[in-house]
Amino acid sequence: MSERQAAARLVTPEGREIALPVLEGSVGPRVVDVRRLYAESGMFTYDPGYTATASCRSAITYIDGEQGILLYRGYRIEELAQKSDFLEVAYLLLFGELPTRAQYQQFVHDITYHTMLHEQIQFLYRGFRRDAHPMAVMIAVVGALSAFYYEDLDVEDPRHRLIATDRMIAKMPTIAAWAYKYSVGQPFMYPRNDLDYASNFIHMLFATPCEPYKVDPVLARALDRIFILHADHEQNASTSTVRLVGSTGASPYAAIAAGIASLWGPAHGGANEAVVNMLDEIGSPSRIPEYIARAKDKNDPFRLMGFGHRVYKNYDPRAAVLKESADEVLDLLGVKHNPKLEIAKELERIALEDEYFQERKLFPNVDFYSGIILEAMGIPRKMFTAIFALSRTVGWMAQWNEMIQDPEQKIGRPRQLYVGPGERPFVPLEERG
Ligand code: SDX
Repeated sequence: MSERQAAARLVTPEGREIALPVLEGSVGPRVVDVRRLYAESGMFTYDPGYTATASCRSAITYIDGEQGILLYRGYRIEELAQKSDFLEVAYLLLFGELPTRAQYQQFVHDITYHTMLHEQIQFLYRGFRRDAHPMAVMIAVVGALSAFYYEDLDVEDPRHRLIATDRMIAKMPTIAAWAYKYSVGQPFMYPRNDLDYASNFIHMLFATPCEPYKVDPVLARALDRIFILHADHEQNASTSTVRLVGSTGASPYAAIAAGIASLWGPAHGGANEAVVNMLDEIGSPSRIPEYIARAKDKNDPFRLMGFGHRVYKNYDPRAAVLKESADEVLDLLGVKHNPKLEIAKELERIALEDEYFQERKLFPNVDFYSGIILEAMGIPRKMFTAIFALSRTVGWMAQWNEMIQDPEQKIGRPRQLYVGPGERPFVPLEERG
């Protein structure tokens, strides 16, 4: 897309006028190119939390926060969730176009035949206590992959990047499922090449060597849709982490391990687990007003988990799909009455009518309903964020590949507004009183 060379004019405190180029993308806000700002003005920009900073050019995912629109390579998330499947969406995110039948079949084959882990890796799990959080285990095991695939990895080699991408996407379900199996003291289940991606994960989670286990296709389809909804989301905290680590030329496995660590925070991907803990704590619709009041109370650290978003100032379209899915999955599972879902829906209704939430444009986000569905599917709470990480690995790898190939990208190295002491002489201990 050609960029109109408009300019933003800045007048420095000394009265000097500086013209900064304005760059235009294909859709969405334009950007002021500040790369020359320091050289021409001696000033930095200041933006804690990067609330108004574009860190890169990207063609992968577009979010219109005001309208509540999410596009993967131009396709609406609602349409992909309805009509596609996770590996087809993975191909789209990675390569930019929906695959032909032959491309899709080849991609599914490539992923399927990379799902096994090196036999040594299972011994890594044994260093953890059985009650270790799966996210801690996944950070360690994914990071360890950088030791297993180190010598022959040149991140500048497209072939090496493709293999690393296939390996990461293929092995995450095995790594995540084994973290769960280890936590419950059951034997690891190996991946099966006759099962689709979501079914394979469910089988590794719940099957045992003692008897055949048939995966419920309803659960597999519901989980596949959850994978689609969590696959990528522009430059969120964990994706920015992966880009920053990758910008140093570090192993992509190390970069993904850092992304998992970043996603784990309750303000980010850890919110899905925090939402169901919160709904348990609320316990009944009668206590909702008490928690709404706490969420609004500046002296109370409590926040409504699963609500609010840095970009969406409208309903998160993923939450809308998940809310609909929740009713569908629970109905298919024959669950007539799900107290958490009822509390969640009532909580949403009351919050959305409340001025505090309206003024701040706080709406349910992707994490608000996802945990309710996962729990109804029998997936343990501590695995919720691990499932988010499993799915987001596709987005992380797509963004990592895009970053490596971007001619404008260089090592990420922000500056600061220094507020510490100016230069001062060292005072020997005996003179310090
Ligand atoms: C994800 O970035 C992504 O794309 C992330 C993600 C992805 O797919 O990668 O979408 C996934 O991380 C979703 C978000 C999951 N986190 C939660 O649900 C945790 C609860 N939400 C918040 O902590 C918060 O809303 C954030 C972290 C999501 C966004 O925080 P911001 O953008 O920094 O906004 P803020 O904290 O400055 O809040 C603005 C105002 C503040 O009030 P005032 O100071 O203006 O009076 O809104 C209030 C906040 O106190 N506020 C909330 C609130 N969220 C914001 N008040 C009560 N409950 C909340 N949930």
